[in-house]
Amino acid sequence: MFAWCWFSLLVGSLMQNMGYFIEMKDILCEANPDYFKDFCCRIRQPKNRSLEASVNIVQVITNGFTGSLRVSIPNPKKVMTQIFEITFDVCKVLREGKRRMLIDLLVNTLARSSSSKNFKCPFPKGKFVSNNITVTDLPPMLTESDFLVHLDFFIPRVAIAMNITLNGHLFDVSKERARKRKFL
Ligand SMILES: *[C@@H]1O[C@H](CO)[C@@H](O)[C@H](O)[C@H]1NC(C)=O
Ligand SMILES: *[C@@H]1O[C@H](CO)[C@@H](O)[C@H](O)[C@H]1NC(C)=O
Ligand SMILES: *[C@@H]1O[C@H](CO)[C@@H](O)[C@H](O)[C@H]1NC(C)=O
Repeated sequence: MFAWCWFSLLVGSLMQNMGYFIEMKDILCEANPDYFKDFCCRIRQPKNRSLEASVNIVQVITNGFTGSLRVSIPNPKKVMTQIFEITFDVCKVLREGKRRMLIDLLVNTLARSSSSKNFKCPFPKGKFVSNNITVTDLPPMLTESDFLVHLDFFIPRVAIAMNITLNGHLFDVSKERARKRKFL
């Protein structure tokens, strides 16, 4: 019991200094007008840590809508190399309580910042606005790095609906603090 308390205290104090934030460098958002109109996305300055996006959903998003998430980071030779790829059924992951980590992060990030209360399928037509898409609760086993994320939505063998390409950098909070201390 005593050991456990001590352990929780230790982990608790370590957690204070743990965590990551991302700074975004550029984003490209493209959409197929048969599915999404007026798709806009923008990095919020001056901090570049969050996004604002808006889109007009032209067709109800329902079964068969598929997402693909790909993450690349530079290898030791600084060549962008894919480290993660997953294809998922959009409506299925919205229904499931237990999801793969990065998918969970993606769904939570969008749901938290979304203007619509019901974040589930069928996803209705109409305007979808989000002024502050911020990625938090990043998993602790990461390292500081540039990254490139491709998030694509499509209906297999029918159409590509949306492509999002995001370039950014992942910072370790504790390292960033140490760097600040050095300069201030
Ligand atoms: C999305 O990307 C694919 C290839 O990655 C490309 O063929 C397609 O034209 C793009 N679609 C849109 C709507 O930009
Ligand atoms: C945010 O992005 C703009 C445009 O790319 C850049 O000029 C600015 O220095 C960035 N801000 C930070 C805090 O990195
Ligand atoms: C944006 O969201 C983040 C995290 O949810 C929050 O800390 C921040 O205050 C929000 N910013 C604005 C301008 O609403």
